[in-house]
Amino acid sequence: MKRVAVLISGNGSNLQALIDTIASGDLEAEIAVVVSSRADAHGLVRAATAGIPTEVLPLAKNQLEDRSAYDVALATRLEAYSPDLVVLAGWMLIVGPGFLDRFPNRVINLHPAMPGAFPGTKAIARAHAAYQRGEIKRTGVMVHYVVAEVDAGPVVTMEPVPIQPDDSLSELEERVHLVEHNLIVAAVDMVLRSL
Ligand code: GRF
Repeated sequence: MKRVAVLISGNGSNLQALIDTIASGDLEAEIAVVVSSRADAHGLVRAATAGIPTEVLPLAKNQLEDRSAYDVALATRLEAYSPDLVVLAGWMLIVGPGFLDRFPNRVINLHPAMPGAFPGTKAIARAHAAYQRGEIKRTGVMVHYVVAEVDAGPVVTMEPVPIQPDDSLSELEERVHLVEHNLIVAAVDMVLRSL
């Protein structure tokens, strides 16, 4: 069974989608570990409830500037679980070469926007505002291989998400998250089959 490490920083609804699909037998994988950058992430509760080992690795104040030590520590922590694939599902820290070089072509990230659009944080809110300004007609979700550049890298899969004229931000967020939950599962399945 292929082993997956899931990295989170918050609620963990995408982690839950992976947990539920594996439990239903529709995804052939094992979540070897869930690592959070925050000790108060609700995703840790979801992992514990599912009996999945967890780790917490917050970024220390003296690591804010130079991330290399953190990247190496994170990679070393993960290697102890021998993951075949590392999935960033709501992981809010940038990972650099010191981490990526340890898992070549085996790190994917979920981003709530189309390729090249709204890199970084608050992507759904920025898309909603851009729609209001008439700059875009729709948004989307993508899963991509992680490279040093934020929310760039070769796309594994993506899906457009329509925006309705009277959409509130929370209505759009809800629609995007629903698409994410299916897309993250499909992406993990696709990549694991390619390994
Ligand atoms: C998702 O929208 C993901 O695309 C973004 O952070 C959010 C995490 O949601 N990077 P959750 O923690 O999986 O519920």
